[in-house]
Parts: sequence; C-alpha cells; structure tokens
Amino acid sequence: MSDLPDFKVVEPSDDTMREAGDVLRAGGLVAFPTETVYGLGADATNDAAVASIFRIKERPTFNPLIVHVKDEFQAAELVEFNELAQKLAHAFWPGALTLVMKRKSDGPLSLTATAGLDTVAVRVPAHPVAHALLEAADVPIAAPSANKSGYISPTQAMHVLMQFKDGQGLNIIVDGGSCPVGVESTIIDVTSNQPILLRPGGVAVEEIEAVARPVKIDNTDDIKAPGQMKSHYAPSIPVRINVNPKDRQRGESMLTFGPDMPRRAAMNLSKTGDLKEAAANLFTMLRALDMPGIRGIAVVPIPNEGLGRAINDRLERAAAPKEGEIAGAPPKAHDPIGNIEI
Ligand code: TXA
Ligand code: MG
Repeated sequence: MSDLPDFKVVEPSDDTMREAGDVLRAGGLVAFPTETVYGLGADATNDAAVASIFRIKERPTFNPLIVHVKDEFQAAELVEFNELAQKLAHAFWPGALTLVMKRKSDGPLSLTATAGLDTVAVRVPAHPVAHALLEAADVPIAAPSANKSGYISPTQAMHVLMQFKDGQGLNIIVDGGSCPVGVESTIIDVTSNQPILLRPGGVAVEEIEAVARPVKIDNTDDIKAPGQMKSHYAPSIPVRINVNPKDRQRGESMLTFGPDMPRRAAMNLSKTGDLKEAAANLFTMLRALDMPGIRGIAVVPIPNEGLGRAINDRLERAAAPKEGEIAGAPPKAHDPIGNIEI
C-alpha cells in the first residue's frame, strides 16, 4: 500500500502511537513491545496484512497467530468464553497468559491469522505500549514474536531491527525498551473444562493451578500448538543443555545460573538463582553468545519449577537438532576459522 510510511523506528508517544494505529488499520505492519517479547503486529481482521506477517517471518502458514485484544469485551467479540476461560481471564488478564478458545463463527477474524482452525489463541497484553497501540488501532492485533521463524524471540527493539534490517515490509518498530518478562506467554487450551498447557511461559503453571487446578500437561506428539516445533528459538550455533561446568568443551561458552558458577567464557542468567530474572535474561544472553568464534553454548541445569519450566522448554527447543542436522553431531563453528578458546 503506497500510503504507508517507509520503515522507521520510533519512541512511543501520543503522536507515534496514533500513527502506528493508523498504519495497522491501513493494512501495514508494526512491531511493538509486550511484557513478554516484541510482537510483529497486523490487523487481525485483514487477510492481506496478516499474510504479510507470514511472508516476512518466513513462517509456515499452518502455524496460527496469537490475537491481541485490549480487554475481555473485545475478546468476547471474537471467541466463546466458557466458565474456565472466564475464570482464567479474570485472574491473569492483562498479562502473559494466552487462552485458546472456540472461534465465534460470525466473528471478524481473518482465517489466515488462525490458520483456518475453529479455535483462536487470544491474550490481553499488560505492557502499556501494547495497550496504547490496541487503543489507537481499535482492531484486534495478530502478532507472533517479531523474529524470523525458528530464531530467538526479540526482547529489545534492536533485536527486531537486526532481523528485519531494511524493514522487509515492516513499517514501524516502536522501541519500548526491554521486555520485562522475557519469555513468551503461557498458552492454555480452555476449549473444554480441563485446562491443557500447550506452552509453558510467563505465567507459571503453579499460579494457574492455584486458580483452576489441575492443569493437564500436553505432552502428546500431535502438535496442539502447531508452532511448538521441536527446533525453535535456536541460535545459529549448537546448544547443549544440562551440562556440568566441568564438562565445557573447547570453544564453547557457558550459560550458567545461580551463585558459585565459573565466570570464564560464561554469562550468568541469575547469580542469585532467581528464575524470573533468568527468564528476563534468557533470550538476550542466548543472542549475545550467538556470535562468530564461539563454537557452541553449553547450559547448566535449570530448576524445572515456576518460570524454570518456560526456560527449559525454550532451551530444549534451542538444543534440538535443526532440520538436516544429526542429533549429537559434534558442534560446527559458524565461523570456519573460529577455533578460539574464549
Ligand atoms: O508472548 C507471546 O505469546 C508473544 C507476544 C508477541 O504476544 N507471541 C508469541 O507468538 O509468542 P508466536 O506466534 O511466536 O507463538 C504463538 C503460538 C504458536 O506456537 C502457535 O502455534 C500457537 O501460539 N497457537 C496460535 N493459535 C493457536 C490455536 N488456535 N491453537 C493452538 N495453538 C495456537
Ligand atoms: Mg515465536
């Protein structure tokens, strides 16, 4: 569309939010901060705009997007709330919880956004910039994480810029600083009375269970959250998980957690062993270690409780062999002469 502005990065203000809202309504793309990660947003009722998200992300079209709304009332125009959905929405919205609900058959959502499913993943973000954008746009915003499909999600505007250097169809990046939660939302299927965890994330399962227990963990291999591919969130160099610092290999850097960890060639997710701090640091540190000269990233074990579940889920996917790779193959440096001990 020719009346859309050329690619630019802006600070949030009344004027820029108004412009970003106009751009979304006119079919453009806006990257914006949420409390979890940066989203790549389009008007969720506009098929062509949503299709351009899939194009620039290089995302498979069978993988549906999360629809962001400003409140429960706007959500109720799109999906059918049952009792369980209502309970969880009241308890956790706005916030890092996405609920998968039945789509309203006469609702306005683009079928491309939901990959033709009869369910929709919906959330109300808590970040003030996301909220201001939803108000300004006055349409539901479909937004996956603002990274190329398969790579690490962005937690800073700079990460978005690095992935979409000259825009590639993106019109505006709203720079709202670092995302405080740092991992994506928790996704719960609430289409029945039994809450099913499709993706651990920014709201701990324990918190959800305190409101609606018990949560069933979806560990079937038929992918209910189609984007939950085995290899995802992956740096370009190999990642090994549950590694004792004594077993660091030559050329590897370590991602550590807690006190008394080695400091050489290492970044510590949280020196005090705080899982919230670790989640907020995870993607930024994975990116920082993903650089030429480093042969791989070895990660110490992370406790599998609270936000530790989301961290371990992302690390397992970061460590999974990518298509065409063999599990357990020796690490390849992404710099052919990067055989340096750091
Ligand atoms: O924190 C977040 O959730 C971020 C921010 C931007 O809101 N968004 C995000 O979106 O992580 P994305 O597209 O990277 O991940 C969305 C996940 C995918 O795994 C997708 O398959 C799943 O949600 N999903 C979307 N609609 C679904 C549905 N109807 N049923 C099951 N899973 C669904
Ligand atoms: Mg994503």
